[in-house]
Amino acid sequence: MPLSIGIESLSLYTPRFSLPLHSLAEARGIDPNKYIIGLGQEEMSVMPPDEDIVSMAANAASKIITPEVKDSIKLIMFATESGVDQSKAAGLWVHHLLDLPKKCRIIELKQACYSATCALTLARSYLSLHPDERVLVIASDNARYGLNTPGEPTQGCAAAAFLVSHTPRLLEIEPEQGYHSEHIMDFWRPNYLSEAIVDGKYSTRAYLSTLASSWDDYAMKSKRGFHDHSRFCYHVPFSKMAEKAHERLVKINSEQNPSDTLDISKSPSHSLTYSKKIGNGYTASLYISLASLLENDPHDLSLQRLGLFSYGSGCVGEFFSGIVPKEYTLLKDKNRLAHEDLISSRKALSCSEYEQLFSHSTPTNGSEYMTPVLTEQGFRFKGVKNHERLYEHV
Ligand code: CAA
Repeated sequence: MPLSIGIESLSLYTPRFSLPLHSLAEARGIDPNKYIIGLGQEEMSVMPPDEDIVSMAANAASKIITPEVKDSIKLIMFATESGVDQSKAAGLWVHHLLDLPKKCRIIELKQACYSATCALTLARSYLSLHPDERVLVIASDNARYGLNTPGEPTQGCAAAAFLVSHTPRLLEIEPEQGYHSEHIMDFWRPNYLSEAIVDGKYSTRAYLSTLASSWDDYAMKSKRGFHDHSRFCYHVPFSKMAEKAHERLVKINSEQNPSDTLDISKSPSHSLTYSKKIGNGYTASLYISLASLLENDPHDLSLQRLGLFSYGSGCVGEFFSGIVPKEYTLLKDKNRLAHEDLISSRKALSCSEYEQLFSHSTPTNGSEYMTPVLTEQGFRFKGVKNHERLYEHV
């Protein structure tokens, strides 16, 4: 019998500032319904100057690193497309801030929004050889497109940290994965830019065709169909994109099985509760969606199969599945309350306050610089001295 491996615990973090999208729409002279109905987004988290992918990652991971699990973490994989150094893995700062054991390996992975899913797949293989260990996967990103661009309402920032182990209490990962890679230029960020370059409409078409191709590969390998899955979670650049992804899967299924009736309980609505308020978390986004589904779906999902789709522009897509263990019910309410509190306690900014934070930049010449203190608790990015990034816990 194959060993069961999967996600044992999962914690989200997002900074303490948000921008209601109706305020952005008003400032840009756009009908708010374009953002709220057309894109399906209500708010987006805004990164203050004293946070970055490292502080967000440490804040997310600190909630799941208990004394019982700490010594068994032998591998940390940090997934991001907002890297802060060309050489050093961001996970080393997190490892230091959380005082994790020195007998540990740490790497950073990059492929747009996909790399945390690759980390999960690699962790699964690794743990099949090291059954007593745990792998910490962290996905942390700041999604930036630029003021007054079509991508502006689809920004956001967040981290998701999860432990992968032989005691999956949230999702047991199944072995079959369907994938698709292709060199396309739908979205990328050259080293000299702090905002992404994106061909927005093309990226949405690329997302959907990569979903179809990944699904076909998965369906062929697993011999499963649409109805073998109780719920679906998608990468969420904005909520409407996940809804369109689901419509595409429904369409593929109805073309293959014309007599099938649509089961609306499978729609991704509960997986979007958090993303509608956080915005795009790039690598973290699929795992924000998973947490949202497990914590907000009113039905008992015990022993149900979830289908998950990860998309990273450029592009790589992967469709995989997992079974929700019964133990998930023990964590459901506690995790939901923590994440609801994180999201609802953010301070709503005016559009001009958001623009000020957006335009604040860290000097790139390594000169000494201390960030303004805006983050009142947890880990924060303190500044730069002698080209070295400094962090502190407040
Ligand atoms: N009321 C209701 N709906 C309205 C409306 C109104 N007043 N005005 C417009 N809409 C609807 C439109 O009909 C449209 O809906 P459909 O797509 O269903 O037709 C929707 O609102 C958006 O309108 P537009 O297409 O005109 O919007 P846009 O061209 O200004 O920008 C976007 C949309 C291209 C997605 C842009 O926000 C963007 O470039 N975002 C960044 C790229 C992105 O997120 N791509 C997703 C795939 S890539 C990926 O997933 C990786 C990643 O994380 C980046």
